[in-house]
Amino acid sequence: MTTDEIAELRHKHYNATVAALNLPNEELMILRVRPDTEVSAHRPGQYSTLGLGHWEPRVAGCQEEIIKPGDDKKLIRRAYSISSSIVDESGNLPDRVGQDWLEFYIVLVRHAEKAPPALTPRLFSLKAGDRVFLGEKIAGHYTLDPVQPTDNVIFLSTGTGEAPHNYMLWQLLHQKHQGKILAACCVRLKRDLGYLAIQEALTRRHANYTYLSLTTREVGNTGQKVYIQDLITSGQLEERLGDSLDPARTHVYLCGNPKMIGAPNVDKSFPQPPGVIEILSQRGFKMDQPNLKLKGNIHIEEYW
Ligand SMILES: Cc1cc2nc3c(=O)[nH]c(=O)nc-3n(C[C@H](O)[C@H](O)[C@H](O)COP(=O)(O)OP(=O)(O)OC[C@H]3O[C@@H](n4cnc5c(N)ncnc54)[C@H](O)[C@@H]3O)c2cc1C
Ligand SMILES: NC(=O)c1ccc[n+]([C@@H]2O[C@H](COP(=O)([O-])OP(=O)(O)OC[C@H]3O[C@@H](n4cnc5c(N)ncnc54)[C@H](OP(=O)(O)O)[C@@H]3O)[C@@H](O)[C@H]2O)c1
Repeated sequence: MTTDEIAELRHKHYNATVAALNLPNEELMILRVRPDTEVSAHRPGQYSTLGLGHWEPRVAGCQEEIIKPGDDKKLIRRAYSISSSIVDESGNLPDRVGQDWLEFYIVLVRHAEKAPPALTPRLFSLKAGDRVFLGEKIAGHYTLDPVQPTDNVIFLSTGTGEAPHNYMLWQLLHQKHQGKILAACCVRLKRDLGYLAIQEALTRRHANYTYLSLTTREVGNTGQKVYIQDLITSGQLEERLGDSLDPARTHVYLCGNPKMIGAPNVDKSFPQPPGVIEILSQRGFKMDQPNLKLKGNIHIEEYW
């Protein structure tokens, strides 16, 4: 494709600009995107769409892809939860998250089982000022709507599943939530905790907030991997929350790796080994199923 053709395709498809880009490590990105028009109305926890054309370059070291004939001029789009750095540059909670941009927290997928990853190898080639596609529609039921002011709120995630929780945490802290709040995130390596410094500062500053991080592939984890599920079964989660996991006054939010979440199969059996849903179900929690209009206190966002 010629440079002019690429310029024309970008002009036709892109409606937003990379406002800022920060890489906590070479496979993890905190990206701020400014739409050409106003940021669409949304609530913390919801997701938008990012897109780049097949014609864009991919970072090195990713699985090879073969672009089907006719796809070379098409856009690749994927869903992304809206994240938040929670505090502003001075470390204070702002009254609004982002004036004219949205923040995203994205991991580079280099290899995938079903088909070569298409979008992230291209997102990781972006620079500040580059143009991208940003979906105008912001959607999702994964919000704090069901939470009462004195409820305890538990956010459990793996990897970049922390993204929506950061934005929801901002909302709770900004609203001076009265219940206890605990966020736990499980990652392979400490370097994969892109918001760790902010989270630790918030834990020190807010008496009702606790952040727990788990790593599974640091040298010290050998032979003693602790997953999110283990935090619950060992009682450590309740100990750090400083309260019991009482289904009557607790909402649990699960985001990230579907194996950690463990949503029931079509026949209602649970996948094995158990994910968090099975463990919490045994303790009286129920899944919230907005599509079936069934209210519950376990809320989920699966990334794949
Ligand atoms: C509602 C929703 C919100 C999402 N929000 C985020 C987000 O905030 N940040 C983010 O990084 N991704 C998020 N994703 C995943 C995202 O949509 C893409 O699938 C991902 O970025 C990979 O895109 P790809 O085209 O490179 O590969 P794809 O072909 O889309 O995915 C290939 C494989 O990569 C793995 N994978 C995908 N996403 C992840 C991930 N986040 N962590 C670990 N492995 C993964 C899965 O095995 C998947 O089958 C979200 C997905 C959904 C449905
Ligand atoms: N993070 C990296 O260092 C890295 C580097 C290069 C490429 N990538 C690619 O990036 C993508 C995302 O990687 P990611 O590390 O962010 O996400 P991930 O693979 O979902 O892992 C996130 C965390 O979830 C844990 N986990 C795995 N199975 C689980 C289960 N059954 N129950 C509970 N927790 C479970 C992982 O532990 P385990 O250690 O047991 O898996 C890890 O601590 C992958 O495609 C990967 O290949 C990641």
